[in-house]
Amino acid sequence: MYLLGIESSCDETAASIVEMGEGVRRIHSNIVASQIETHKLYGGVVPEIASRAHIEAISNVTREAIETAKIGLSELGAIAVTSHPGLIGALLVGVNFAKSLAYANSIPLVPVNHIHGHVAAAYLSNPDLEPPFLALVVSGGHTSLYKVTDYTEFEEIGSTRDDAAGEAFDKIGRVIGLPYPGGAALDRLACEGDPTRVPLPSPALPGETLDFSFSGIKSAALNYINEKRMKGEEIDRADLAASYTFRIVEALTKKAEQALEKTGLSTLVLAGGVAANSHLRASLEALCKKKKIRLAMPDRTLCGDNAAMIATAGYYEFLAGRTAGTDLNAFASDEGM
Ligand code: KG4
Ligand code: ZN
Repeated sequence: MYLLGIESSCDETAASIVEMGEGVRRIHSNIVASQIETHKLYGGVVPEIASRAHIEAISNVTREAIETAKIGLSELGAIAVTSHPGLIGALLVGVNFAKSLAYANSIPLVPVNHIHGHVAAAYLSNPDLEPPFLALVVSGGHTSLYKVTDYTEFEEIGSTRDDAAGEAFDKIGRVIGLPYPGGAALDRLACEGDPTRVPLPSPALPGETLDFSFSGIKSAALNYINEKRMKGEEIDRADLAASYTFRIVEALTKKAEQALEKTGLSTLVLAGGVAANSHLRASLEALCKKKKIRLAMPDRTLCGDNAAMIATAGYYEFLAGRTAGTDLNAFASDEGM
């Protein structure tokens, strides 16, 4: 079955055609129009500008996805669209576009949770992966651990109580002068530094809980930078990047280990934009090797926001009968959904 996926929850307008079925998980096109260059000027995503940019891009991005795949609209089994969570104005662009396209062509419409989409990216890169598994989703807006008992069944068993890990990377990246979003550049810089040089608190909350808190490490790093600047001392950016990354990766690895022990699950899936982080990937590889756990990650190119992951998650939602009508709405949060 062919699906068209549409994603517009943040700062990428994306459309993709995937083919899903018994033993088949194939990407036929995966088009992403990034707005990063526009938002770079402001050091972060400006929601109003994001919505406008989605409106400008969405028709062409979708046309390109269809033309590249050489799959006609009449061949589509469903249109999957991110309906939550995300920036509400941005989400509404994708949802309304998908609704119109589905209605005009009598194609079933499937709403998709963006986080479930990130996890589904792992299915594309690991053709034999199936639930149950533990999923660690680390992105610009989320940091959570899920017990995934079926393709469409997610139970959140741990999450951040404040900022997301991606946000924490981007914030410090910005302060030390890296271009937005700082995550990828900080990842590279951290390779050149000494992770033991700057003392920083752990974002893993102590004890049995599987929750995180990134606000403490973020403030501690900011204080360190400000103190150095006030004293007129040079900041070794690489050492700071390495120490900061080390503490965050250590915390994510620690809670993933605790969650594996708690749930008894034997597969770990890492997903979300921060899943592209080389230090995090290496640390989880070491953990899973030690514990004889299967580690499944999306290819780095599928970690960031894209629509192939939305189409893939949409396939399983479709099989579960979760289609929507023209009254489909978008929601900024995923609480209670
Ligand atoms: O999943 P995503 O594309 O968007 C959200 O749903 O939030 O994640 C974007 C986040 C940004 O914070 C970005 O800096 C971060 O992923 N990121 C990275 C890396 N590549 C992207 N963070 C750390 N290391 C990377 N290599
Ligand atoms: Zn995302």
